[in-house]
Amino acid sequence: MAKDSKKLALLVGFLLLPLIYALILRCNAGSILIWRFQLREPLRNMDDDLKIRRKEDGEIETDFRSFLLNRLAKGKAQEELRQNGIACLQNPDSDICITTASISIPISTTTTNTVYLTGNQKLRQNDDIITLYPYPARKQDLVAMERTSPVRLIADSASPSCDVMHRVPAVIFSTGGFAGNFFHDINDLLIPLFLTTSLLKSKVRLVLTDYQPWWVHKYQNFVSQISDYDVIPVPAYAGQEKVHCFPGAIIGLNYHGHLSINQSKAPTNLSIVDFRNFLHNSLFSNSHKLSTTTNSNERPLMVLISRRNSRTLLNEKELINLAEEIGFEVEIATPKKMSNMESFSKLLYTCRVLIGVHGAGLTNMVFLPPGAVLIQVVPWGLNWVSKAYYGKPAREMGFEYLEYKVEVRESSLSEKYSMDDQVIKDPLSMHLKGYHISKPIYIDGQNLRLNLTRFRGTLEKALDLA
Ligand SMILES: *[C@@H]1O[C@H](CO)[C@@H](O)[C@H](O)[C@H]1NC(C)=O
Ligand SMILES: *[C@@H]1O[C@H](CO)[C@@H](O)[C@H](O)[C@H]1NC(C)=O
Ligand SMILES: *[C@@H]1O[C@H](CO)[C@@H](O)[C@H](O)[C@H]1NC(C)=O
Repeated sequence: MAKDSKKLALLVGFLLLPLIYALILRCNAGSILIWRFQLREPLRNMDDDLKIRRKEDGEIETDFRSFLLNRLAKGKAQEELRQNGIACLQNPDSDICITTASISIPISTTTTNTVYLTGNQKLRQNDDIITLYPYPARKQDLVAMERTSPVRLIADSASPSCDVMHRVPAVIFSTGGFAGNFFHDINDLLIPLFLTTSLLKSKVRLVLTDYQPWWVHKYQNFVSQISDYDVIPVPAYAGQEKVHCFPGAIIGLNYHGHLSINQSKAPTNLSIVDFRNFLHNSLFSNSHKLSTTTNSNERPLMVLISRRNSRTLLNEKELINLAEEIGFEVEIATPKKMSNMESFSKLLYTCRVLIGVHGAGLTNMVFLPPGAVLIQVVPWGLNWVSKAYYGKPAREMGFEYLEYKVEVRESSLSEKYSMDDQVIKDPLSMHLKGYHISKPIYIDGQNLRLNLTRFRGTLEKALDLA
């Protein structure tokens, strides 16, 4: 009996861990502030852009309706879309509506986001209005949703007349939520954007609600591969209030889980490796000098993600000396260096091994060249999350993955707690007490001093693989 209840507790624990840990990523939201005050640059005047593009629009042959119907919508949703001209899918993490009929969006300088369904779309259960929050992945997260403006879809209503007619469908999503945090940008926005729209071959117009100019600026290379057109910001800049009309739309984005794409759900068998290639193409295709093949005389480059506030490597210097002695050239990635995505991504694309303690910085693995090695240093009590959050995605993205799990003596927790303390003996039971209990201990409360005798083995393995 007692055994059973322990088993049950364990099971519940494993089910809860993803939820608990979803919250952990928030502690990285500090970087939002950094970005918020950078990179303000007015977009090109939209009207000029429209004039230039109008001619091209006429030549578009992509049949987006067929794509929406036959690739994006599946099963029941496909039937619904065929019958009603619109289908809305409610997933645990994200909502998305797809319409193959016309819409109009009055875009003003306020944040009220209304989409009029002007093509006789029929909403389910005779609803006249559907409201959704088009920031993917974080539907369950109240903080993210507070930062995301709702979009209302209204059927059967007198809609304002069009100022601008677009020939390509709209893709409407929010850059509110946790946009600005690098992990969330990749996981919540770029991967969903890729998997939802890339097969439309840039013949889409992005409408960004909760628009933040720096976001588009930071990811402009990627965004310009997704869409041939400048984005439409919501709210509009003063003087650019217009009613935009589209022949169809996707409102919200699909999301398949942590840094992943589920090939069997994705249109035309897209995978996370396709995402990696797409991202690399968008960032590196014009960089002539980047070469991923190392000259045999050169020492392979290892980039070390250096953490400063928590989960810090206390003997980082000694570790670097060891890596150099073994045969690597080592670059240290400080938070400042990482904040310049353009130069940092290029550095990573020429590197063979990325190493770091578990944390959002490891998201930078998306810039590694195929076949590179990720070494994750796993702090005490964070085995499960380390594997689920970076280990598994690393393998799926086509990287070699090595894990160095610290022993208790390598963690500063061993100085704070006795060996028979629950914190040391049974981290799972601490996680079960709640995130507010476990976060200060395992996430924020430990630094690491690696046993270099033992760590040498991992480095040598990485050198072999590199
Ligand atoms: C991928 O999607 C399919 C179909 O929806 C589902 O059966 C499968 O469990 C998913 N795989 C993963 C790893 O989530
Ligand atoms: C999708 O890709 C997988 C692996 O890349 C392959 O085994 C499978 O046959 C593909 N399915 C389709 C329908 O192309
Ligand atoms: C470091 O690791 C080596 C090899 O695993 C082991 O023999 C040694 O006892 C460890 N040192 C400490 C201080 O734990």
